[in-house]
Amino acid sequence: MLHEVAQASGARMLVALKAFSTTAGLAVLRPYAAGCCASGLYEARLGARHLGGHVAVYSPAYREAELAELLEFAHHIDFNSVPQWQRWKELCLAHPRVQSGELQLGLRINPCFSTGHTALYDPCVPGSRLGIPAEQLHGVDLSGISGLHFHTLCEQGAAELVDTFRAFEKQFGALLASPQIRYLNLGGGHWITKPDYDRPALISLLREIREMYRVEVFLEPGEAWAIHTGVLRARVLDVFESLGYRHAILDVSASAHMPDVLEMPYRPDVYAVSASGTGAPAVQLPGEGYALAGEPGERAFTYRLGAPTCLAGDVIGDFSFDAPLQVDDIIVLDDMSHYTVVKTTHFNGVPHPDIAVLQADGRVEVVKRFGYTDFEGRLG
Ligand SMILES: Cc1ncc(COP(=O)(O)O)c(C=O)c1O
Repeated sequence: MLHEVAQASGARMLVALKAFSTTAGLAVLRPYAAGCCASGLYEARLGARHLGGHVAVYSPAYREAELAELLEFAHHIDFNSVPQWQRWKELCLAHPRVQSGELQLGLRINPCFSTGHTALYDPCVPGSRLGIPAEQLHGVDLSGISGLHFHTLCEQGAAELVDTFRAFEKQFGALLASPQIRYLNLGGGHWITKPDYDRPALISLLREIREMYRVEVFLEPGEAWAIHTGVLRARVLDVFESLGYRHAILDVSASAHMPDVLEMPYRPDVYAVSASGTGAPAVQLPGEGYALAGEPGERAFTYRLGAPTCLAGDVIGDFSFDAPLQVDDIIVLDDMSHYTVVKTTHFNGVPHPDIAVLQADGRVEVVKRFGYTDFEGRLG
């Protein structure tokens, strides 16, 4: 779907590795993606190796050694502030890849136009450190800059992008129209793979920008590449009642394995394998015989699903089921591949779930098995 939008619009579709960077998954995306959006050197190296193609890097600030390495292989390097640009300009402009045009330099700007509802994910909130507001560009020497970049959306539709682009155009249209600007990166947050996303509206905006401003247009969604592609399978370790609540302790943690459940916060879809988990296949996707858990009180048995950690708030939520949960039952948490696997920690030394790929022929291939040495080795 993302590839189709790219083909129909002439825009280039990158994978934001911050959302999803499981290498086995990148191998699947590689034929469809134009390259990667990287948050710094490590993601850039990962993308160059596992996706190939275009490497676009944006970081709020660069270290000199990091930048020196990026200059050797990145295709876009975008700067977040006027001081960052001024600090690194000379180093960058002296590099042969910049002089030949193989590597282009850009600025992340802030159109100060919010369309989101969650402040944590809104780079346009008052006081934001992300991107340069229009008034800060007055009088700045922009020679050597050939790209503009904004990222403001989060799980949003084409209409929000159109509105944002119009706000951006009002403030930065003259700069965009100047011959020095050769690319525009529209960031991520485009929920293009959602069934009701207005893809024709997106395609028409992208075409309009390309034709009117004669720039290469890039999008760098993360979530949209991986949404609904993975589940987290957990096992019930204990069930008990306390202070008026039925608790089920799972072998996974919101804090360590799915921090967005606490940070965003959001409530994942939860499925239960009916009986005691015995005979359940290693991986089974929702919709294949699993019962979706209800809101608290909606079904006969409500449980607070919690983690085996010390953090009092390490709770996934309250869910209700048709039958009582039992030790060893399997709980499946849906949509756990984007912004989950990349954010995991070994908090409390909770064993880390393996990463497995369900192949098209039904085979389950474990691509990463975590053990004690991963826990010990992480902390030196
Ligand atoms: C600069 C930038 N580009 C792309 C993305 C990817 O956004 P999403 O995964 O919502 O598509 C993000 C997310 O934070 C971002 O900060």
